[in-house]
Amino acid sequence: MILKKNEVPSSPKLGVEWTQSLENDIIDRLAEVDCVEIIPENFFFNRRDDFIKKLGASGTPVMIHGVELSIGSDEPVKQAHLERMLEVADRVNMIDLSDHLCMTESGGVEVGQLTPLPWSVNAADVVCKNIERVMAQVRVPFLIENIANRFVFPETELTEVQFINRVLDRTGCQLLLDLHNLHANAFNFKFDPFAWLEELDLNRVGAIHLAGGHYDDEGTLVDGHSHPIPDRVWELYRSVCAKVTPACTIVERTENFPVYGEVLTEVDKARGIVNSSIISFSQDLQSGVGR
Ligand SMILES: [Fe+2]
Repeated sequence: MILKKNEVPSSPKLGVEWTQSLENDIIDRLAEVDCVEIIPENFFFNRRDDFIKKLGASGTPVMIHGVELSIGSDEPVKQAHLERMLEVADRVNMIDLSDHLCMTESGGVEVGQLTPLPWSVNAADVVCKNIERVMAQVRVPFLIENIANRFVFPETELTEVQFINRVLDRTGCQLLLDLHNLHANAFNFKFDPFAWLEELDLNRVGAIHLAGGHYDDEGTLVDGHSHPIPDRVWELYRSVCAKVTPACTIVERTENFPVYGEVLTEVDKARGIVNSSIISFSQDLQSGVGR
């Protein structure tokens, strides 16, 4: 769902990302979240069938979040891979489909990681064509996620935000805004993440990822989904929620597992931020102040 300015979703959804180590807890405590995000590649060829059956039977809204569609490769998006994603999606209550703004393979050779794209008009054209191919085949919103950049191309034609805005505008797809990826990029490449958000078309944010990472031996902030969500990411989340109300927010914790209750505490904290932004927005509307 794309929100117009001054519009809030009727019931913003807050949830968690599936991870194998926590899947029993996730199933046992589905009533405590509004939605679950799954990476469909983990469930191809009926793998982890029991979890998918239970998740599907529950009717829980599910975000299908791919990692290998390679939407930025300069070749048509992999049709067989997309069909496998949709086979998984058919078994649950899919509310949206997403993948990353990057490439993961080219010419049939897998890169093995989310690889940044050059921020150029030509690269944007390639991405747009692939997104349009996907959108033509799905009945739910398609979202593209900003990645944690391991490197950036020098002297690019566009800034990252211009590149993202261009793709969103051209295709009508939505942004899955990962605020820890933004935080990591801002730290590693030394820019102001709040200024980055100022440039972004926030009205096209369809969902948000919150996570915590860690620093490697060289002092690089890694998007590890491995630690509690840091204060800086919460600040970014408050900043976004002050301007638009995200329809979905997912807490990603897929490494260095805590007890599941700690993940749910972060979900509740996010819920509190979203709800207080809605209250404040309602008060602004009553007093005639726009967002
Ligand atoms: Fe993410």
